[in-house]
Amino acid sequence: MRPGSKPFLRLTKPPLFLLALAPLCWALAGAFGVLGVDLGADAVETLLNHLGIWSLRFLLLTLAITPLRRLTGQGWLLAYRRMLGLFAFFYLVLHASVYLFLDRALDFGLVLEDLTERPFITLGALALLLLLPLAVTSTRVWMRRLGKRWQALHRLVYPAAILGVWHFYWQVKLDTVEATVYAVILALLLAARVPPWLAKRRRLSLHVGRP
Ligand code: HEM
Repeated sequence: MRPGSKPFLRLTKPPLFLLALAPLCWALAGAFGVLGVDLGADAVETLLNHLGIWSLRFLLLTLAITPLRRLTGQGWLLAYRRMLGLFAFFYLVLHASVYLFLDRALDFGLVLEDLTERPFITLGALALLLLLPLAVTSTRVWMRRLGKRWQALHRLVYPAAILGVWHFYWQVKLDTVEATVYAVILALLLAARVPPWLAKRRRLSLHVGRP
């Protein structure tokens, strides 16, 4: 079966989808105290961190697709990008929901206090706001409806990812090793986009220069 062919994608997407649900299954097993999953003394904090880290991991996986496609010349890798992006948003919504419902018990006074006095929460909320329109417009209908503007809109993923890593970095305060690793990965994924972007600009400027 040829990689990237319709049967290949039909065969590979469902198991990948199930694999991407594994962090959720772990969280649910921990919440219900089954399968030996222990969320530790502070279950809410463990869930917050677990869902937050998986949201970030899926976001970086989504951003890795384009450089990987360029590196390997395998265009079909793009077929997985929407699914990965939506899983990043899915885990982010779960992350923010654990914060809102379990950590802050819907006390909006406390949430407002967090948003104004805990900068890492403000950064997280900004990142969520930037990712929301991307999740809403991730369908083919929106892609057609927005045309060229769709690509421009989806460049918001870059500042959202930067805010997400920054949120993580400011949240951990002391042991910043893990957050630094994610920051370096993000920097490499963004840097990988610069040469093609410069080449495209050069081509455009040459094109504009021609009679
Ligand atoms: C409204 C939006 C958000 C809220 C309210 C929020 C809230 C939180 C809170 C309260 C923590 C700290 C948990 C603790 O006490 O240890 C946390 C950690 C974290 N959040 Fe968020 N967050 C938001 C958005 C995001 C976004 C957009 C990302 C990434 C894409 C993200 C990724 C993380 C990560 C990676 C951690 C740390 C995990 C760890 O320490 O292992 N969060 N978040």
